[in-house]
This record gives sequence, C-alpha cells and structure tokens, in this order.
Amino acid sequence: FSAFLTDNFGRRHSYLRISLTEKCNLRCQYCMPEEGVKLTPRNQLLTTSEIMTLARLFVQEGVDKIRLTGGEPLIRPDVLDIIAGLRTLEGLKTIAVTTNGINLARLLPKLKNAGLDMINISLDSLVPAKFEFIVRRKGFHKVIEGIDKAIEMGYSPVKVNCVVMRGLNEDELLDFVALTEKKPLEVRFIEYMPFDGNKWNFKKMVSYQEMLDHIRQQWPNFEMLQTDHTGTAKTCKVPGFKGQVGFITSMSEHFCGSCNRLRITADGSLKVCLFGNSEVSLRDVLRSGAPDKELLQIIGAAVGNKKKHHAGMFSISQMKNRPMILIGGLLMNA
Ligand code: GTP
Ligand code: 5AD
Ligand code: SF4
Repeated sequence: FSAFLTDNFGRRHSYLRISLTEKCNLRCQYCMPEEGVKLTPRNQLLTTSEIMTLARLFVQEGVDKIRLTGGEPLIRPDVLDIIAGLRTLEGLKTIAVTTNGINLARLLPKLKNAGLDMINISLDSLVPAKFEFIVRRKGFHKVIEGIDKAIEMGYSPVKVNCVVMRGLNEDELLDFVALTEKKPLEVRFIEYMPFDGNKWNFKKMVSYQEMLDHIRQQWPNFEMLQTDHTGTAKTCKVPGFKGQVGFITSMSEHFCGSCNRLRITADGSLKVCLFGNSEVSLRDVLRSGAPDKELLQIIGAAVGNKKKHHAGMFSISQMKNRPMILIGGLLMNA
C-alpha cells in the first residue's frame, strides 16, 4: 500500500470521497443556511477529466472505494459518464454514491448500467410535512420511491441516513427502526454534527447512548452486530427483522482511530479530515501542469499531517470549517 496514503499513525487511506458539485436541490437545515451558500465560480471547479486524473492516481496508490458526494451528486449532468469512467479503473472495487434521493428513481437504471455498486440515501423524517420542513423543499415521495426502487434493483444494503435532532425528529426513532422489519435496509442514525451555518448546538444533539436506551425500551433484545472496523457505523438489529440499524457516533464516540478516508471537494481541495480546516488545492497543482510525482508528494504531505483524532465536540463546534454542503456530503474522522 502506498506510503503517500499512509499517515503517521499507520492508517491506510483506501477510501476516497469525491464531491461532484456544490449545488443541491434541497436545503437541509443541518447542512446549510436557508439562503444557500456562495458557490465557487464554475471555472474553479474540477472538470470531469480532472476528476478522472485524480481518481486514477489515488486508485493507483491503493484506493479501492470511491464515494461520490456533493452537494447532490446526481444533479451533475455528467454523473453517469463519471461513474462509467471510474468503472474502467483497475483496482477500484466499489463505486458508491450518497444522495438525497430526489432524482434517484429516475436515474437508477442508468446508474446501475454505468456501474454503480452502493447507494446511501438521506431521509430524516417519515412524515411528509416534517421532511419538507427539515429539507426546506418538497419531494418526500420521490425519495421513498428511490429507496424502494434501489432495493428492487438488488442494491444491498441500501443505507438510509437519518440525522437525529432533538425536538425535530427524535420522536421518530422507533418508526425508523420499524421500517427495518420488512425492508432489507440499513437505517443509520447520525449524531448531529456542527458545521458553519447549521446552527448546531449541544442541546439539539441526541447521543448514541440516548438513542440506544430509547430503542431498547421498545425492543429489549435489540442486539449489537459485529461491526466493520473501518466503517462509520456501529450496527445493531432487532432479531427477526430483515434490515438493520446503524449509529454514526462522530460526536459522542469518534472513530478516528480506524479512519481510512480522504475527501476531495468540488473545487479540488484535499481534506484529510472532515473536521479539520486544513486543505490543499490539488486543482491548482494539476493546472500548473505538475507531474504525478509532484502531486503525490503534495498528497503525501497532507496525509502525513493528519491529526490523530478530531479536536473534540466543543472545539469542532467553535472552529471555522466549510458548511457541510461545501465539504462533500459529510464528515470525516481524525
Ligand atoms: P459507507 O461507505 O457506507 O460506510 O458510508 P459513509 O457512512 O462513510 O458515508 P455517508 O456519505 O453515507 O455518510 C454518513 C454519515 O457519516 C454522514 O453524517 C457523514 O458526515 C458521516 N461521515 C462520513 N465520512 C465520515 C468521516 O470520515 N468521519 C466522520 N466523523 N464522519 C463521516
Ligand atoms: N450532521 C450529521 N450528518 C450530516 N449530514 C449532513 N449534514 C450533517 C450534520 N450536520 C449527513 C447527511 C447525508 C450525509 C452525507 O451527511 O445526512 O446523508
Ligand atoms: Fe443537499 Fe445533502 Fe446538504 Fe441536504 S444534506 S442540503 S440533500 S447536500
């Protein structure tokens, strides 16, 4: 495995998240401010061929999983070409997408055909009006249709991401768990995380322990499963249910020690940690015509500087960072 992608704590970064766009067709409260965010001028965003050049380089060095994020990745017009291009990279085992699900049902046959392997879908409420309040747009039924169609087309597991916020959707925890009785889904409850412009505060966060206690009141035999140690989620299930439940505990129990992820923002910056504010522009290096070796040295230096873990719940809530929409569909450890 490449020394460039191994950090000082021995973590091997074999999982790359690439943000395809800063734009989104929703306005989720936990992701961005109501007025949206200032978008980077188009000529400063990575082109498809720049994305392919970077992907090829990372795969050559040992990345075997790429997740496409955003913004909303499925609104990039050439998303199918990008997936088909990635599919040609030898050594890349998994191509995944994290989407809000609005355009999913419509695009699924083409996504599958292009070579998409895994799908994670955000869904924060099972009550249409509340869904619309949280995402500040319409579209609940399209998302449900997307989830069902993904299952129908054989995607497994289809993961549903639910950011749990006190006073907003915490009362739906049991309904989300109940969804896993008949559907082979992995519903993942995510602790609410702080990003610029998302009005996070400690009281709005519902911790893993609290969620677990609540679920066990209804299903006392809710059991822990063996968890893939490089994943973000601790997984559980109600015995006999088709699907399972995950918890993403970035706030109460970070999982930075086993972090294997790097991310590239839509404007071409490498972020070695979701919560870190240090970035290096790979776009500028690419556009200077630098050879691969120089790019790799720059990537290696950034990975080498990755911190052992994020700075802790309160520090990260005070720190300057991008809003989530400009990071790329979420967090990272360390
Ligand atoms: P899998 O590949 O299925 O494990 O997906 P994932 O959980 O890594 O990605 P997804 O885009 O579905 O994100 C789900 C949640 O995990 C979001 O809230 C992300 O912010 C969070 N997340 C993703 N990557 C990281 C990470 O590196 N660190 C932390 N702390 N959180 C992350
Ligand atoms: N806290 C936790 N999760 C978040 N996501 C977006 N913003 C936040 C936040 N503030 C999640 C979304 C999406 C994933 C990419 O990141 O649910 O599924
Ligand atoms: Fe769009 Fe995802 Fe952000 Fe919601 S969380 S506004 S769907 S990018």
